[in-house]
Amino acid sequence: MTISGAAIVGGVCGQPIKHSLSPILHNAWIEAAGLDAAYVPFAPAEDRFEAFVDGLRGGAARGINVTIPFKERALAVADTASDLARMAGAANLLILNADGSVHADNTDGPGLIAAIAVQAPGFDMAAAPVVILGAGGAARGAAAALLLAGAPSIAIVNRTLARARDLAEAFGPKVIAAEESALPDLLPRAGLVINATSLGLGGGEGPAADLALTPNTAVIMDMVYKPLRTEFLRRAEAAGRRTVDGLEMLLRQAVPTFEAIYGVAAPAEVDVRAIALTLLGEA
Ligand code: ATR
Repeated sequence: MTISGAAIVGGVCGQPIKHSLSPILHNAWIEAAGLDAAYVPFAPAEDRFEAFVDGLRGGAARGINVTIPFKERALAVADTASDLARMAGAANLLILNADGSVHADNTDGPGLIAAIAVQAPGFDMAAAPVVILGAGGAARGAAAALLLAGAPSIAIVNRTLARARDLAEAFGPKVIAAEESALPDLLPRAGLVINATSLGLGGGEGPAADLALTPNTAVIMDMVYKPLRTEFLRRAEAAGRRTVDGLEMLLRQAVPTFEAIYGVAAPAEVDVRAIALTLLGEA
């Protein structure tokens, strides 16, 4: 891999950042595409995020991914934003224009939709309501992407009902807030159920929804990808449902991100899923 003085520089910014898979994935694509480019990790101090982005303005880097805990502040610091980033209330990609301006985008949403297309081919988003478990930033981003992709309605189910209500109000009549006790009514009509809580991360139990209540055509997705087969997804499989994992969403968001930063398509011949599975110790 060549990194000359003319290299296009991209990266990912989070705190902490050392567990991010993104540098390995993007640099694998850079190498396969034969680009003079680099993708590097950044971990600015929590109170220095805005100063960090300001320092990149005007071309010090071409574009950067943004991850926890900076996604909301990334939207706020930008001069312009895509509709999706605005709806999601968060940005995972900042493009640094030569004129000094910063544009915020969100490729997590397209990543979620693409992951469903890959792992649940033929799924009809418009056919049935969606149930999202959780009401944090991940849930909000998912709701924005699903509405744009044609979901007829979305129920946000959260331990803290007030947070679900806030989220529903931000989206209008297609999105409703519900208590966990409403799941026995919601699940039998659901076409898609998504875990957007942090439950299951690191191997614990997932949300306590009885997935066997869903129609047998329903698709069950988990945004958690450590472990890859979460307890929630294993329950979905035991009930005979099709599943979509959080790793596929992570990989799919990287595809439009790469093109936005480096100006060429991510080389399809690189098996980024195999690379990621090895890194996660799942291969
Ligand atoms: P993110 O930005 O990744 O979505 P977050 O804003 O911290 O992270 O949201 C975490 C989500 O997981 C919330 O919906 C949270 O529920 P509350 O709003 O009630 O806190 C949910 N969550 C986390 N731990 C939970 C638990 N033990 N039981 C139920 N829900 C939990």
